[in-house]
Amino acid sequence: MFKRSAILNFTTLYRLGRPFKTGMTTLPVDEEDLRPIDSINKFDCTIDENGLTLTHSLLPHDRVFGLGQTLGALNKRGKVYRLYATDDPVHTPDKECLYGSHPFLIVEGAETFGVFLDYPGEIIIDIGFTQDDLLCIQIGHSDVDIYVFDAQGIRDIVREFLTLTGSPYVPPKWAFGYQQSRWSYPDERSIVEIGKMFRQKGFPCDAIYMDIDYMDDYKVFTINQQRFRDFEGFAASMKRDGFRLVPIIDPAVKVERGYGVCQEGVENGYFCRSIDGGLFVAAVWPGFAYLPDFHNQDTRKWWGGLHKRFIEAGVEGFWNDMNEPSIFYTPNAVNEFYDTVQYMKQNGFDKDGSTPMSNRPEYFEDIVHTGDDGTPVPHNLIHNLYGFDMARATIEGFNEYMPGQRYFLLSRSSCTGTHRIAGIWTGDNMSWWEHLLSHIRMLMSLNMTGFFYCGADIGGFGCNAYAELMIRWMQLGVFSPLCRNHSAMGTRYQEPWAFGHRAFEIMREVIRLRYALLPYTYSEYMRCVRGLVPFISPLFEAMDIEDQFMYGDSIMAAPIYQPNARGRYVTLPSARSVPPATVVSELINCQGQALERQGTKWLLWRCSRYDVRDVEVYEPGVYYIGAELGEMLIFIKEDTLVTLTQPVDYIDQAVCKSLTIIGFVTDKATFTHYEDDGRTLKYREGCFSTLDIVIERDDDDYAIMLSRNEHPDVPIAITEFMFELYDASGQKVCRHVVA
Ligand code: GLC
Repeated sequence: MFKRSAILNFTTLYRLGRPFKTGMTTLPVDEEDLRPIDSINKFDCTIDENGLTLTHSLLPHDRVFGLGQTLGALNKRGKVYRLYATDDPVHTPDKECLYGSHPFLIVEGAETFGVFLDYPGEIIIDIGFTQDDLLCIQIGHSDVDIYVFDAQGIRDIVREFLTLTGSPYVPPKWAFGYQQSRWSYPDERSIVEIGKMFRQKGFPCDAIYMDIDYMDDYKVFTINQQRFRDFEGFAASMKRDGFRLVPIIDPAVKVERGYGVCQEGVENGYFCRSIDGGLFVAAVWPGFAYLPDFHNQDTRKWWGGLHKRFIEAGVEGFWNDMNEPSIFYTPNAVNEFYDTVQYMKQNGFDKDGSTPMSNRPEYFEDIVHTGDDGTPVPHNLIHNLYGFDMARATIEGFNEYMPGQRYFLLSRSSCTGTHRIAGIWTGDNMSWWEHLLSHIRMLMSLNMTGFFYCGADIGGFGCNAYAELMIRWMQLGVFSPLCRNHSAMGTRYQEPWAFGHRAFEIMREVIRLRYALLPYTYSEYMRCVRGLVPFISPLFEAMDIEDQFMYGDSIMAAPIYQPNARGRYVTLPSARSVPPATVVSELINCQGQALERQGTKWLLWRCSRYDVRDVEVYEPGVYYIGAELGEMLIFIKEDTLVTLTQPVDYIDQAVCKSLTIIGFVTDKATFTHYEDDGRTLKYREGCFSTLDIVIERDDDDYAIMLSRNEHPDVPIAITEFMFELYDASGQKVCRHVVA
């Protein structure tokens, strides 16, 4: 029934039928190694006319993680998930799908293993919802590659998964700065104005986004002449001031005679077709539009080329939106709607009259792609690849017009594989406190599925934000790889100065902290990419804790995500010895008291400014810890180091000459500071430098060792090291080392 082959040390492929080559994995499969087998490890399996069903019995304490961009808890048990990329702007807990499909999950418990379904159509995953003790995976097809990972422990399973699917996307260094967006800053004047405000007010910022109103009638790849009289000059002057412009690119191409992109697409057969053979027409922002057939390599090449004008004007990044694809309605649906309204006018109520028109299943059933060999491919077979293929099309442009350079790309829709070539944001959230918590959980799940560079719209996209929510969200944003404030048309303005002076001052300090932490963030991000370990991760010693997370290996963030809170409960796990399944319940039974005296201690930095230390040592346990509105709870793990520098207005200014090292050292701590040019792909060929910092506690003193391993093209400019070292009782020793 299946064909089986060992792929990596702990990874086995089970192939059913003749699966479609999706591009989600990067390791080749040698057909010769595939051997017939009847069953699949860890699962019972049935195949019938409805496709494939895999089931696995869950024990009461089994936990399930992964699935990337999905709503709900970090532990995915107790919900049905539908992996079918969908533009649903109301992220309530009952929703089964969002914009992406990341079909990788980890079962942790009596048996710990991972499973990845390399399949680009709809997948339904019921994790103990219908039947509390059953994990059930349904795929309406029987051509699929299933990978089972047998490594021990979540970290190793993730590493194996990323070895199979490729290492995560590395954006240019400036992308770790603060980014400002709004639907919309519609013209040159408003963008220049926003930029000036950031610089005048000393609020660091690296990028300003251009939402759909920069276009002419929402025609993709146009720039409205009235609103941008000299786009090239404007883009160059923004760049001189340290701002990257990030224009939005939507897939839908307006149907309009004389519009070059439309004409070229029609003439060359670059658009999706409808089952009846004609071109498929969808309505999106521009009104009636064609959808590019990104499945086809000629279309991708063409689409990439269309970015030329922007890239030549110095634009280094784009955000791809509406690429699930999102369809507001079709001409047929409008006709039906019109008939319904007529009926209602004559006869009164019609129960179907209010059926939502957007993204109806029948629209997607009607779309047909053309494979590279000319064969038609029904859209639903490959639905979840549309956003990925659009990203692949975009990077055709980067490769052509800025070869060797790192590009910035955010995509709303994604599937496994996209994590290698783009970052994602989590779509249209709301200014709700609940979505702060969602942001925390989703970052962890996304990192486990390879999307290291991700973030949610800070402040919330829909609804109105207010000062306290904004501040708390900004504080979470410090630890969000993508740190972007974005809000919808019609909502309250959300720039940092929109909430009064006090809120502004607090947020400025918060974002200065982010810039101060850049040496730590960048070094840790690159370490994680190279080592294939999540950058944002749950507390592996206490996986039941879903509202705290590790940011790299040294920092644990405990964001405040509730209104009017002036503190929160924090669990400080003992990273050394307590078995994961018991830690939380034991900890909770002894609230406020120290639990495991031999375990890892934590240094709390109650942070209101990057350069002010208010620190205290904590033993493992559960504590209620106060935090005023301007304060963040940052925990530094025992025997680790955190590095900081002076914040700057934008990252290109940041040449790190003086490094502050905060060490919580009771025995020995090491940290590898990493630098590369931040702009090119040369780091892949070894063009980077490292500086190992080792601190050993030695009786009552510390021994400090620094060793550089420098590449001549990227010398490390640090000449001054300021050590702030804390011991187990919180006593501080300062050292100043000049190199
Ligand atoms: C979608 C995007 C949002 C964008 C809006 C207008 O809703 O998710 O980020 O601002 O479209 O382009």
